[in-house]
Amino acid sequence: MPTGRSQPISPVHVRAEPGEIAENVLLPGDPRRARYIAENFFEDARLVTEERGMLGYTGVYRGRPVSVQTTGMGCPSAAIVTEELIRLGAKNLLRVGTCGGYHPEMKLGDLVIATAATPADGTVSTITRGVPYAPAAHFDLVHAAYHAAKDLGREPFVGSIVSSDLFYDSEEEPQALWHSLGVLAVEMEASAIFTLAAMRRVRAGCVLTVSDAISAAGVERIEDSVLAGAVDEMVILALEALDALN
Ligand code: HPA
Repeated sequence: MPTGRSQPISPVHVRAEPGEIAENVLLPGDPRRARYIAENFFEDARLVTEERGMLGYTGVYRGRPVSVQTTGMGCPSAAIVTEELIRLGAKNLLRVGTCGGYHPEMKLGDLVIATAATPADGTVSTITRGVPYAPAAHFDLVHAAYHAAKDLGREPFVGSIVSSDLFYDSEEEPQALWHSLGVLAVEMEASAIFTLAAMRRVRAGCVLTVSDAISAAGVERIEDSVLAGAVDEMVILALEALDALN
């Protein structure tokens, strides 16, 4: 992808040096989750960037280098981070986040593996200059995440999600439309990550824990302690999926 003549070559948000970001990268939205993942799941974790509090760490999992980098909330932030990670050498990007579930059979703490992310955001249409585009996860990461889930005894929901610019949606019943279209869940970053990865010929995927159940009755939020357990399982799954890639 052309970088544009006015754009700096060195990353100014992910302030790591070349060589400090692994080819395999987990992408949580929340900096505290990035720190938690590094401290609890990596060996030899070291902080490689903390610009704007967007913590990034590199360590080792099953003998191979791995990084975890905060994306922040929303597609504009995720797009900056994704672009800079790719410039720094990232090749396999796996978002680990939370989502609002639209499927009536979904329970809080359930796992979603995204195959595609409808770009209900402004970032992707800005990138494509308004040309309709279908951001998709890379098959290798969908495949690896699915088999990692099965190996861990989980039964994931696998299918399309929607990436929205809004957490607080003023639409009365957003699930009515999205569920009728077969969309499993809503989150806020995957469409931009998938799009930039496809443009730059690297692989991206997205695994999500259902933190909000969105139905005609309203929104039910997961308890923090339940979320913590579900996130632990999702992180192990994500690390196993990255490790299984060729
Ligand atoms: N909407 C958008 N993003 C989300 C939600 C939600 O309800 N829950 C977790 N991420």
